[in-house]
Amino acid sequence: MKLMVAGGAGFIGSNFIHYMLVTHPDYEIINFDKLTYAGNLDNLKDIETNPHYHFEQGDITDLDRINEVIKKHGVTHLINFAAETHVDRSIYGGIKDFVLTNSLGVQMLLDAARANSLERMVNVSTDEVYGALGLDEDRKFTEDTPIMPNMPYAAAKAGGDLMCHAYWVTHKVPVIVTHCSNNYGPYQYPEKLIPFFIFKAMKDEPVPVYGDGLNVRDWIHAMDHSSALDILLHKGNVGEVYNIGVDNERNNLEITKMVLGILGKPESLMTYVQDRPGHDRRYAIDATKILSLGWTPKYTREMFETGLKETVQWYLDNTAWVDKIAARMSEINQHIKG
Ligand code: NAD
Ligand code: DAU
Repeated sequence: MKLMVAGGAGFIGSNFIHYMLVTHPDYEIINFDKLTYAGNLDNLKDIETNPHYHFEQGDITDLDRINEVIKKHGVTHLINFAAETHVDRSIYGGIKDFVLTNSLGVQMLLDAARANSLERMVNVSTDEVYGALGLDEDRKFTEDTPIMPNMPYAAAKAGGDLMCHAYWVTHKVPVIVTHCSNNYGPYQYPEKLIPFFIFKAMKDEPVPVYGDGLNVRDWIHAMDHSSALDILLHKGNVGEVYNIGVDNERNNLEITKMVLGILGKPESLMTYVQDRPGHDRRYAIDATKILSLGWTPKYTREMFETGLKETVQWYLDNTAWVDKIAARMSEINQHIKG
């Protein structure tokens, strides 16, 4: 397999590249990334000299550049992680880049997959496209749940997902769409809940909990997300959607207390702040479909505390990585709050 990984310098993309180089050492991996604020080649420093790994800078809205890289490396498969991913930026900052990358960019990749007769494309997307569930219901998102995004970020992602469906039906481009829940693990840019709170708490700064802190997310380790995507690259049915999650619903207060507890910091660091506008109350994934393909996640609900402890320890151990990003914390906060 000669696999182009769009967005491979980000959080999940870099975890996925690490996973693939160990699991399939004979595959060629071509990381195609624009290197936005969230793209970080330090995430891949340990494998940058691996002869099976290649980096190409490029933008997924630039069809000529995508085609050039596909031809240069003889790409056979494509997986897309490239996106603008932070919900708060899509609320408080400009939305244009979200629409360009998350919707138009996916269409460009589909055009390239079609023109170059790629064997398979996987478009990595999010459970946020389904909208929100209530705290008072047992229902989870299935692949048949209607698409009804509430966040501007999620609406832009849904545009890309729907284009995948249309290119499959119209042009028979062999594409799979995935809807995964919230990820945690190493290499995550510290604007998202878990790494943001780790960075803040490490400096004994208050951690801002939105609203009443009772919003629920369904947490999965980025390595389990990676193993699920590996299965879909090989065994998933093209033209279909797969949900990915490990049945691990937790509210934000629980997550915050766990992070502070692992770091040995007092709960008095928790500060309730104004809620996120339109804040989705609960996400929960029904993963029956992908489990039926033989996917066996490691960090199940029972293993979450272990996964979170390992994650916190990773940020404590990787001081060079952390310090470089921490130097930009004020810039990060400024972007988030507009
Ligand atoms: P991230 O923000 O950490 O990284 C995104 C990467 O995409 C960066 O390396 C960035 O440089 C690159 N990129 C952005 N725009 C680009 C463009 N126009 N062309 C080429 N590269 C570009 O994101 P992440 O958290 O790793 O998320 C990866 C994917 O997984 C996204 O599609 C996201 O929607 C999806 N997802 C994320 C989560 C989560 O919890 N983080 C959960 C479910 C799904
Ligand atoms: O569900 C998948 C999605 O998960 C992905 O598609 C997105 O790319 C990813 O960012 C994530 O979206 P969320 O909005 O759920 O993640 P975030 O880390 O921003 O927030 C998680 C929860 O924590 C949410 O309920 C808001 C809350 N929160 C977040 C931050 C950054 C706080 O209470 N305080 C904060 O400072």
